[in-house]
Amino acid sequence: MSPALQSAIDVAADSASVIIVIQQKGGSGKSTITVNLAACMGRSAAKLSGPVTADQDSPVVAAGIDPQGSLEKWADRVPEEKLPFDYLVTRGRLGELPKLKADPARRRILVDTPGFMEVDPDAAWGEDPLGDGRVADALREVLDIADLAIVPITPEWLSWEPVEFTIERILKPRGIKFLVVINLHDPRDGEAQLDKVKKWVDDRGYPRMADPVRKYKIHSHAAEEGQVVTEYKESGTALRAREDFMTLALCVEQAL
Ligand SMILES: Nc1ncnc2c1ncn2[C@@H]1O[C@H](COP(=O)(O)OP(=O)(O)OP(=O)(O)O)[C@@H](O)[C@H]1O
Ligand SMILES: [Mg+2]
Repeated sequence: MSPALQSAIDVAADSASVIIVIQQKGGSGKSTITVNLAACMGRSAAKLSGPVTADQDSPVVAAGIDPQGSLEKWADRVPEEKLPFDYLVTRGRLGELPKLKADPARRRILVDTPGFMEVDPDAAWGEDPLGDGRVADALREVLDIADLAIVPITPEWLSWEPVEFTIERILKPRGIKFLVVINLHDPRDGEAQLDKVKKWVDDRGYPRMADPVRKYKIHSHAAEEGQVVTEYKESGTALRAREDFMTLALCVEQAL
């Protein structure tokens, strides 16, 4: 057997990596990170064989588990043939993501998670605070198969405590590797608040991406139009915006 064919088989032999984007507080950029990271990974995925056809499975999948999730709303607006990845909306149905992870055509599965509202703040330490219900069960299932968690934090201090909760109460007890990513840094604001959030993360010994994902209007407009960062119309801002997510993709690959 040729070495090239053997290595293609070896790649297919192990299951896809599942990367979840999780943070208890809403609006920190989970859905934005999920789709744009999937776009960058899909764009840079190696093609193992032959020309790509329209019906071929992409090695990269973005998935949403939330019944009312923004991934679903966003997906409704996307011309599917323009995306460099596949997407799956489970609406909380169990079993679909484990099946996807075992699919040899898949290499990376990015999972957008809802902010977990029903969380029980009085749950004792060591106890699962996720509570009951469809979303909680879906969240537990995806946590069971996760290889890495991306935890977005924003310079706004209100988002910091939920990050600590997510890491200390949800990820660490399950032994899930994680990476903190600062999102929504406005370059016009200067570095003072950025340095504060970096210090807060570093003081706790949490691994983080060195540079933040910057805040650009182009991202929020894109969400409305069902666009992803790899497809933005060429401009200086578009290049900087893409650079942030390409850097994140590299950082994630090293963390896996
Ligand atoms: N880097 C960024 N630059 C500009 N806008 C951003 C950026 N990241 C997120 N946003 C915008 O911030 C808002 C919240 O982002 P998003 O919906 O991704 O957060 P979320 O964590 O998924 O929220 P929820 O918990 O409600 O699902 C959206 O309007 C989105 O377009
Ligand atoms: Mg969301």
